[in-house]
Amino acid sequence: MTREVTHEADGPAILDASDTGDDGKIFVCRCGLSDSKPLCDGSHKAAEDEADGVVYKYEGDDPEGERREIDEIAYVDE
Ligand code: FES
Repeated sequence: MTREVTHEADGPAILDASDTGDDGKIFVCRCGLSDSKPLCDGSHKAAEDEADGVVYKYEGDDPEGERREIDEIAYVDE
């Protein structure tokens, strides 16, 4: 239940009242697959059946893209 996701943002997102749902709550994405980061858009449903101890990569970081198992998460030194 781990996945590699590429993030391009280089700073914080500022949330305000417009980010709250009808119930007044703010749902923050923790799966990394949302197109509305940092907010959850329901994309995490694609990851619900991921197995423990397996690392996944979704093609294009798209929850509807091809999902494959990878050996490990690639780290890039800068
Ligand atoms: S937790 Fe990532 S889309 Fe919901």
